[in-house]
Amino acid sequence: YTVNLDASDISKGTYDHYMLKEIDEQPNVMRKISQNYIKNDGSLNVEQDLLDEIKKADRLYIVAAGTSYHAGLVGKNIFEAVSDVPVDVELGSEFGYHMPKLSKHPFFIFLSQSGETADSRQVLVKVNEMNLPSLTITNVPNSTLSREATFTMELLAGPEIAVASTKAYTAQIAVEAVLAKALGEDKNYPAAKDFDVKGELALAANGIQQIVDEKDKIKALTADFLTGQSDAFYIGRGIDYALSLEAALKLKEISYIHAEGFAAGELKHGTIALIEKDTPVIAYINDGVGASHTRGNIQEVEARGAHVLVIASQKYAQAGDQIIIPEIDELLSPIISVVPAQLIAYYASLARGNDVDRPRNLAKSVTVE
Ligand code: G6P
Repeated sequence: YTVNLDASDISKGTYDHYMLKEIDEQPNVMRKISQNYIKNDGSLNVEQDLLDEIKKADRLYIVAAGTSYHAGLVGKNIFEAVSDVPVDVELGSEFGYHMPKLSKHPFFIFLSQSGETADSRQVLVKVNEMNLPSLTITNVPNSTLSREATFTMELLAGPEIAVASTKAYTAQIAVEAVLAKALGEDKNYPAAKDFDVKGELALAANGIQQIVDEKDKIKALTADFLTGQSDAFYIGRGIDYALSLEAALKLKEISYIHAEGFAAGELKHGTIALIEKDTPVIAYINDGVGASHTRGNIQEVEARGAHVLVIASQKYAQAGDQIIIPEIDELLSPIISVVPAQLIAYYASLARGNDVDRPRNLAKSVTVE
């Protein structure tokens, strides 16, 4: 098959690195997803056959690897809130070999930027052997996972060249939101009516733009917090916990700083032993339910000398918070809140003289199990 690529999609243009170009493209990706999946009258452009099939499911199983797995963890929150269906999120490399007892009517969603990840594919092979329905959400139409699943939806993020995934993550969350809305409406679930996916994707585009416009500030914060450091922690609760895992992975992948994403409440159960003078802790506060408890965790690590950077949504921000996330539905907040973490990883990697787009030991698409 042939893929139609616009030359501007694969050239670096004026950018030194694909990663920064791809970070900057995210507002446009949000607009493109909105235009493609949401019609002018507000109705959604999602296959009815897919909705009919997925509606029968008593549980969704999202299967993925790496950054896509993290987008699945965010998606779980969205599907459960908007489509009224329980969701399990599974690593292909585990699930394929240690398959748990499945629900009576499972439906599988494969999330994969490349559509070629072998760990995810071997799960799909088994799902097909069991004659169970599936959907692949991918950036590469005609990829293996897209051909072999029952249904497919496109991410529309344009080619992602940098090994560290950025725009595919935000696109995955956006497409999950579209599907969650379509499914919830089809089931007449009240929360789906209230979820204005079109308005939210517009807020996402504008919000990301505001963050990327603050690059210089984020570059300076990165130097201040991470210069000379070998460890860093991202903490958050609820949706911010899912996000912390992705934020930490970005930093590890390209800066080679040891980073961990933690559920803020779990710190006290062990990890807080690692906090010493000047240990960088980056705390997310977008999750309303967890906000006050996470503030408490910030005080606990500060009392032990940690250097804390707070990334908080406008709604829960306090004086002294360094990065403010513009307004968006909490469920979609990772779309905007991940961007400071992408930029922090980028600037930390640059400062260390690493090969930003091609980090050591990593491949863009891993086709071995
Ligand atoms: C590789 C890449 C990661 C990516 C993962 C899953 O390990 O380095 O950035 O998240 O594969 O890739 P996929 O194409 O399935 O999303």
